Amino acid sequence: MNVLTFPSNEELNEAAAGLLTATLHQKANAVLGLATGSTPIGVYEKLVEFYKKGRVSFQSATTFNLDEYVGLPRDHAESYYTFMNTRLFQHIDLPEANAHIPDGHADDPQQECERYDRMIGQAGGIDVQILGIGHNGHIGFNEPGDTLQSATHLIELHEETRKANARFFASIDEVPTKAITVGLGTIMKSKSILLLARGSDKAEIMRRALRGPIDPQCPASFLQLHPQLIVMTDSEAGRLL
Ligand code: F6R
Repeated sequence: MNVLTFPSNEELNEAAAGLLTATLHQKANAVLGLATGSTPIGVYEKLVEFYKKGRVSFQSATTFNLDEYVGLPRDHAESYYTFMNTRLFQHIDLPEANAHIPDGHADDPQQECERYDRMIGQAGGIDVQILGIGHNGHIGFNEPGDTLQSATHLIELHEETRKANARFFASIDEVPTKAITVGLGTIMKSKSILLLARGSDKAEIMRRALRGPIDPQCPASFLQLHPQLIVMTDSEAGRLL
């Protein structure tokens, strides 16, 4: 594991976007695993800036997002589909057909999970997976539990996760109760993983995840087993590492 702590958000964004840009320079048709949430927003802004300056192209890249709420219309302001379009996709040259997000409105969510996993496999797997981390140690929406699922699956969001995400909705009642998430096994098969964390409220869970025992009650702790894990934090989130 390679842990890099940055004194400012700007430097963290620059380094993370730089790593993704370098990946695309080495392999123009790289497969990127993308996350939503507040943590990667600055990285996406940097990527847009790099694209506009001609430093990177996504023309041959493919992307797979980690998760999507079940039950929100695709064009809902808080769907991850809308998030990705407004934050990244509509500003870069990634072909629409190459950008994948689980369909939270599929008639048969189980079939959608299987289709999604198959597509990742057919694309050759993920080259670089970007991850944020939940306060309870979730990655994607792989919530803590007695057992963890390997493949893409339908999950019930924990109350803590719904509360954390209620900040984006008018009230907690509007936060969906279910989501589709790429499973831990699929995440762990990524060739490399870039875990991002910012803010003092993430310091303790980062310590548990990276320095504590490997435990399904903290799904991110399994990342310790990944041979190519890069961790980028600001000085607050990395304080206890
Ligand atoms: C989002 C995702 C989640 C978030 C996590 C942290 O696609 O998979 O695991 O990364 O909930 O969210 P933020 O970044 O908002 O603190």
